[in-house]
Amino acid sequence: MADDLDDVTDESSESSEALIAVHWREEGYYPPPPSFVAQANASDPAIREQFTEDKYPDCFTAYADLLTWYKKWDTVLDTSNAPFWKWWVGGELNASYNCVDRHLATHPNKAALIFVPEPESEAHQAITYRELYVRVNEFAAVLKELGLKAGDRITFHMPMVPELPVAMLAAARLGVIHSQVFAGFSGTAAGHRIADSGSTVLVTMDGYYRSGELLDHKVKADEAVEAAAKEGQQVDKVLVFRRYPGQYSAKTPMVEGRDVFVDDLLAAHKGEIVEPTALKATDPLFLMYTSGTTGRPKGCQHSIGGYLSYVAGTSKYYQDIHPDDTYWCMADIGWITGHSYIVYGPLALGTTSVIYEGTPNYPDAGRPWRIARQLGVNIFHTSPTAIRMLRKVGPEEPAKYDFHFKHMTTVGEPIEPEVWRWYYDNVGKDEAVIVDTWWQTETGGFLGSTLPGIDPAKPGSCGPAALGVYPVILDEDSNEVPAGSGKAGNICIRNPWPGVFQTIWGQPERFVSTYYAKYNKDPKSTDWRDWPYFAGDGATQAADGYFRILGRVDDVINVAGHRLGTKELESAALTVNEVAEAAAVPVVDDVRGRVVEMYVSLKPGFDATPEIEAKVKTAIETDIGKIARPKNIWIVPDMPKTRSGKIMRRVIAATSNFTDTGDITTLANPEVVEKIRHQVQSVKVAKGEVPRELSETELHEISSFGSE
Ligand code: WTA
Repeated sequence: MADDLDDVTDESSESSEALIAVHWREEGYYPPPPSFVAQANASDPAIREQFTEDKYPDCFTAYADLLTWYKKWDTVLDTSNAPFWKWWVGGELNASYNCVDRHLATHPNKAALIFVPEPESEAHQAITYRELYVRVNEFAAVLKELGLKAGDRITFHMPMVPELPVAMLAAARLGVIHSQVFAGFSGTAAGHRIADSGSTVLVTMDGYYRSGELLDHKVKADEAVEAAAKEGQQVDKVLVFRRYPGQYSAKTPMVEGRDVFVDDLLAAHKGEIVEPTALKATDPLFLMYTSGTTGRPKGCQHSIGGYLSYVAGTSKYYQDIHPDDTYWCMADIGWITGHSYIVYGPLALGTTSVIYEGTPNYPDAGRPWRIARQLGVNIFHTSPTAIRMLRKVGPEEPAKYDFHFKHMTTVGEPIEPEVWRWYYDNVGKDEAVIVDTWWQTETGGFLGSTLPGIDPAKPGSCGPAALGVYPVILDEDSNEVPAGSGKAGNICIRNPWPGVFQTIWGQPERFVSTYYAKYNKDPKSTDWRDWPYFAGDGATQAADGYFRILGRVDDVINVAGHRLGTKELESAALTVNEVAEAAAVPVVDDVRGRVVEMYVSLKPGFDATPEIEAKVKTAIETDIGKIARPKNIWIVPDMPKTRSGKIMRRVIAATSNFTDTGDITTLANPEVVEKIRHQVQSVKVAKGEVPRELSETELHEISSFGSE
């Protein structure tokens, strides 16, 4: 014990309280193959010179020029009501026109969307730009008939089906602000968002396939309407798409006068054309809800002109989308990734975007690779969680299928270098570039990424800042944490970029206080330089300028005054061959404040043994240091996960701390919680590790750990 304390003291004195301890190996570089560079949209490093600070903000006209405008802007960036930035002021455009109509002249018969149903017995459906145009117009006619007009809000609670982008583009055509809620969220969660946005119309679907089951989704609409009503928001109409038109797949009855089948409504508007409305660039396009530190979700409001220009530009240069590509982003349109990089970015560029209804490992872990082979997908986009899962359940699967990606993306979480390398070698087959794109719901598009035809990739780092984005890492006292210092702090963006959200719907004070107040010294200033955007992520910058994102700043474990990034710990554990997934949580400790407990699950074919535990411990000690040595390593059958696949660290943290696991109804696998609790707590009781009663602040930390 004395030894441990000495170690703690030694290391504590090295870094200030404000800094997150960062310890990791430097990784090697992976340059793009010449075949990729030869065809890349950005292959000349001189492109960076067009986006340097002296050319800001006008540099972004290169992105706006990718769009078709009814009226060009007068002012590129208006900062007069800081930090409520306005891009392309005076400009007028329509997002639906840009993603649909304008492509009819050049390639009406090209697939805009290819829908892949989950059941493999159902053929995929290619929807050409011409067909998309027809469907968007007809649905816009339906919305118009309901009396919806520019500025109204509409909520979608739709699964991954082509009707969702059709509905989004129809709303955008009229200037109706859409708010899509992830289908995996409960009806009640959708109801809160309906109420917050003040929507009177809900668009849903009767059912959809998930892991082989045709789920009754309509039942959630009834719950949503009820939950919204409790908050004083009445829903007048529920529009129900049918998974199989003409045939109702849900058991829940339709409510007379309120619920209507969309296919019935569409029949009355066959072939109808609704001209796109010319809207202000600064008008809102959509709301995307994300969770925050309070219970009330934040409706991030994105603009038409700024957002669309930014996703078009980043899709072109970072996703390297060409019109002839077949692009598949396996994210869900219910998240910002799907909005920006399934729908708006790819369609603005006139490419073919694949929509897959189901889970990646249904019926087996070869499914994504069969889809890729069948459709000739050449750009593939997914999350580290999905990569980890596919690596866990089907490490050999990619090799069995003849598909070839030129480009792959990872997004949403830090990716462990071990996992990155599996993706590169096995999915990319050593011939595809990888971009690790760092950004957020709030930011609309990528903030940090390599330019794939120019910069080498470095596993575990997102790369340099995106074009025209100037980040800085600040400590708690507003001091800059320099590149190459080995220290970490809060990553901020010094300047506005076109994709940045405009406000939190209905909560402008919260917008300012959450994202801008922390480092602003003069609330009256209208100079953007006084308003660094606080991203809420810990990061460090290597000497080469590459950023490494450590996760949310509230997702760290403070061990004896050291804040350890959970991802650092997990990355170390994942270097152990047998380990498939890892999650680190804090446990309240009387001597050191917090200690780390590590939960790991193993790849198939391995059983929990003391040897594996020892290997994990050694890996952490070797990669990070004794300070991070976990108090316990629990080898569990599975991690509790949300429907979107993120590990619910607060549930594990509660288990380790003997506190209430809270609401687990949003988990994909709630049954695993009790199993883990029994496994962990019986050992802890036997070892005499039952903690004292926690204080209120400790309880708060544990119950919200990792959930922002
Ligand atoms: C994390 C998803 C590391 C980060 C687009 C951020 C990442 C949060 C990366 C936003 C990445 C996103 N590397 N961490 N490449 N991308 N994150 O709003 O903590 O769902 O703040 O947006 O995900 O999550 P959100």
